[in-house]
Amino acid sequence: MHWLLYVSVAAACVLRPAAPAEYLLPGDTPPHHYSLKYAFDIDPNTNFSFYGVVDILLHANSATSKIVLHAKDYTVSDNGVSIAGPQTPKVAGVRLNDTYNLLTISLDRDLQPGRNYTLTIPFYGNLKQGLDGAYISTYVNKETKTKEYLIATQFEAISARKGFPCFDEPMYKATFTITIGHHKDFNAISNMPLESSSTNNALEDHWPWTKIESTFKKPQSDFVWDTYEKSVAMSTYLMAFVVSKFSHVTSPDDLSDTKFRIWARNDAMDQTAYASITGPKALAYFEQWFNVSYPLPKQDMIAIPDFAAGAMENWGLITYRETELLYDEKQSSFLNKERVAEVIAHELAHQWFGNLVTMKWWSDLWLNEGFATFAASVAVNHVEPTWNADRSYAADNMLSVLNLDALESSHPVSVPIDDPKRISEIFDEISYRKGSTLIRMMTMFLGDEVFRKAINKYLRKYSYHNAEQDDLWRELTAVSQDYGTLTRNVTVKQIMDTWTTQTGYPILTVIRDYGEKSLTITQRRYLSLSEKKSSAHPSWWVPLSVLCEAEARDSPAPLQWLAADEGLTQQHSFQHGSGPEQWVLFNYDMIAPYRVNYDQRNWQLLTNTLRSEHTRVPVMGRVQLLSDAFALAWTNNLDYSTALNLASYLQREKDYLPLSTGLKALAKIENVLKRTPDYGAFQKFVRKLIGETYEKSGGLATRRIMNGQDLNSVKMQVTTSAWACRMKVPGCEENAMQLFQQWMDSENPDENNPIPLDLRRTVYCVGVSRGSVLAWRFALAREQRANVAAARDALLQALTCTREVWILAQYLEWTITEGSEVRRQDAGAVIANIIRSPVGYYVAKDFVYDRIEDIYNAFKGQGRRVGHIMKTLLEQFTTQSELDNFLSWREQNAKYLADSKLSVEQAIEKARVNIDWITKNRRAVVDKLREFSTEEDLELSHDPSRLRLTHSAAAGLTVHVLCIVLTPLYIV
Ligand SMILES: *[C@@H]1O[C@H](CO)[C@@H](O)[C@H](O)[C@H]1NC(C)=O
Ligand SMILES: *[C@@H]1O[C@H](CO)[C@@H](O)[C@H](O)[C@H]1NC(C)=O
Ligand SMILES: *[C@@H]1O[C@H](CO)[C@@H](O)[C@H](O)[C@H]1NC(C)=O
Ligand SMILES: [Zn+2]
Repeated sequence: MHWLLYVSVAAACVLRPAAPAEYLLPGDTPPHHYSLKYAFDIDPNTNFSFYGVVDILLHANSATSKIVLHAKDYTVSDNGVSIAGPQTPKVAGVRLNDTYNLLTISLDRDLQPGRNYTLTIPFYGNLKQGLDGAYISTYVNKETKTKEYLIATQFEAISARKGFPCFDEPMYKATFTITIGHHKDFNAISNMPLESSSTNNALEDHWPWTKIESTFKKPQSDFVWDTYEKSVAMSTYLMAFVVSKFSHVTSPDDLSDTKFRIWARNDAMDQTAYASITGPKALAYFEQWFNVSYPLPKQDMIAIPDFAAGAMENWGLITYRETELLYDEKQSSFLNKERVAEVIAHELAHQWFGNLVTMKWWSDLWLNEGFATFAASVAVNHVEPTWNADRSYAADNMLSVLNLDALESSHPVSVPIDDPKRISEIFDEISYRKGSTLIRMMTMFLGDEVFRKAINKYLRKYSYHNAEQDDLWRELTAVSQDYGTLTRNVTVKQIMDTWTTQTGYPILTVIRDYGEKSLTITQRRYLSLSEKKSSAHPSWWVPLSVLCEAEARDSPAPLQWLAADEGLTQQHSFQHGSGPEQWVLFNYDMIAPYRVNYDQRNWQLLTNTLRSEHTRVPVMGRVQLLSDAFALAWTNNLDYSTALNLASYLQREKDYLPLSTGLKALAKIENVLKRTPDYGAFQKFVRKLIGETYEKSGGLATRRIMNGQDLNSVKMQVTTSAWACRMKVPGCEENAMQLFQQWMDSENPDENNPIPLDLRRTVYCVGVSRGSVLAWRFALAREQRANVAAARDALLQALTCTREVWILAQYLEWTITEGSEVRRQDAGAVIANIIRSPVGYYVAKDFVYDRIEDIYNAFKGQGRRVGHIMKTLLEQFTTQSELDNFLSWREQNAKYLADSKLSVEQAIEKARVNIDWITKNRRAVVDKLREFSTEEDLELSHDPSRLRLTHSAAAGLTVHVLCIVLTPLYIV
């Protein structure tokens, strides 16, 4: 089944079918209130049995004798289902159909329209160690060495139905009153503050099940019954509770009016300080930024030892995986800290965008995720002003959009969904990053004041309700008209529909007339596969920010627009201020996701400036240029000598963003060359490019950055050292091995680690890959003893660097073995990293092909993991035979890939892109790389202090050092 209906701009776009489709609830009995009661027996001996009962106050909109809601994975006590209300209807039948998890309650007479009823449903079952619904998570208490259990929930997108029978679609908002019964050794928290707690187990109404269920036995031990205050109206996917033996800290009162608590395992409480400050600071900032108060009296944030996503924004009780909430001064890196701040800010932004105002249907998920992603950068910028978070997130997000959205098989931001099982597939870069990029674009073309004013109106108007993207466009248009900010007679909807309902983004071709000081622009969709010519001719409203060399950097020309009907069939032209020896640069601030190609002379002028005085081009402009040059060369729209020539200036780049952009572009070339005889030439080229920067940034030998607070220089050092070791810059691996050996020799390695914090991933990887089995065992032992999740994570990933095939085979086996050293939440990342390593690729490919059934079962309930593995695998393909093998394997294993259709299509396209490149470009590029690495002028001659690198390329086998700044794998 093809699940995406590509929508063209012209077509009316009905995102949620008007007539109830068979997978949607009929909608004629919406809920007002849920009163939910649980008794949990958190005991492996009872198989974690639980009993629940829910009273749903619902409203009859029509005279129906059927109530349809969702339920999944527990038993509904048929004989206990009852309904109370006018004319006392009786339950005539209860039926559960698993196809869409629909629970149908048939009544003996029609409900009366306009009246309220209370539906009571008892249910019972056993909690599992999955990662969605209400599930069991485990950890070992380091002091007592005992295995502990806890219950956590993950209800987004459609797993609230696994927790209790409910109307599990985001538009059915209702209030909740929750009571949780549990053994007194545990404590329970939920969205709302505790209202009352009872230990009176004799009370008959604590045990309603005794009356209905003969199998029900009261747990023997002492129970506590916690009841929480009635919630605000909210969607089911935001409901949450945790029952654990965790402790908490309370944040300082002066940071926010909201009571903030951070929860974690007792052993990890010393890692909560950063979150306990950052959370309330970000929340207070959002209250001011949105100009809407946070509506709940408290906010709990909790680190769960097993967690599928990165974090989940449940209202008033945000759940995180440990690495995204906990930060340890002595064990976590600066990059870990950055990630923690980002994720906390993202989840808190959701408390407004997502929780207070929710998308009507999952098609508009991007409204939630795009906004939270964008808002996170705003809040982090406030909390950590020296990090330049707005700039770096914007560039990161944009670059990844430009990559994925260049695939024919990408999807529109606002995407029709015809089967709820496919919802998890759209929690992807397009919803998060393209969404965020487009929101940033609006703030830039509307102005901050207009944008914030409109957002405020939107939030107030739709509070406790649902909205669609058109509702947002309407508010933005109204305010922008008041302020007169849109220079052309156009609505925000007209502009934005071209970006959110169409797949992809444009490439502008700019041709200058050097005598006339004018230029012409055309637009078309940019695609990675060069020969692909689609029959459709999509076009966009493109905001044009143009910088002319002639103009002062700080007073660029005002924004212009390329209308959707311009530059398509006829060229759009305008005058500018640059003379024949001066360049023009488009998108110098990366205002919108598009690529730009120029005539050869303008490329040359830009390159000259970069190579002589690169800071005359703004940072974001350098990022855009590098990314465009390599992408265009990849698709044969630009000569590789132009791209490499331009990139050669990177030898002197001191800013992390452009350097990492250039390196990311080179990593794409590396990926297709790394298993070919040409890899040596590639390494030589990169050595020349970064060798000096690596030395200057401190190399591996220094511990300078341990106390450094400058994120840019930390990132420079982390990135260049990872590349330096991988590219065999002389001394790099030797230094890394020495450091690793010192650590192995250290008396108490769990306490004394001589390796600088931020360089640990690189050093560990070299240590494990060049070391013996002993080194691998040593790293594993450290991983097992580590108490800080970020430290464990670095070691888990380092273990994938080994070149011992049998160890890799064993490690892969662990990823699908229940109770093994690799937690389920980490298994996907381990498999992906092994696939990416040159030796591991062969082992992992066999593993994926042979064990797909076990992999599929191991990752059930974890969203897009199987799809992610497929993508990672096919991204490595460079030959037609690899792809052919996959295609025939896929036919036999279709059922395991049914939930990952979109990812698999994208993966196949990525493989085709690689194969195409190898055929068309490999020879020429390798020649160019060779030429450039011997050419003197690559070594910028006016810098006499430059270190001469010996070119006696280090012999020895290729060691794969993983890219340090991995794109976060986990959705938040
Ligand atoms: C369950 O629902 C599906 C989809 O509506 C339908 O095709 C199927 O026949 C139903 N099964 C039963 C047993 O009613
Ligand atoms: C139904 O219940 C809601 C929520 O308690 C209440 O606001 C409404 O007035 C009730 N309607 C009727 C007809 O009783
Ligand atoms: C602006 O556009 C609207 C609708 O397309 C049109 O009715 C109106 O006349 C236009 N106004 C101007 C000033 O062009
Ligand atoms: Zn999110």
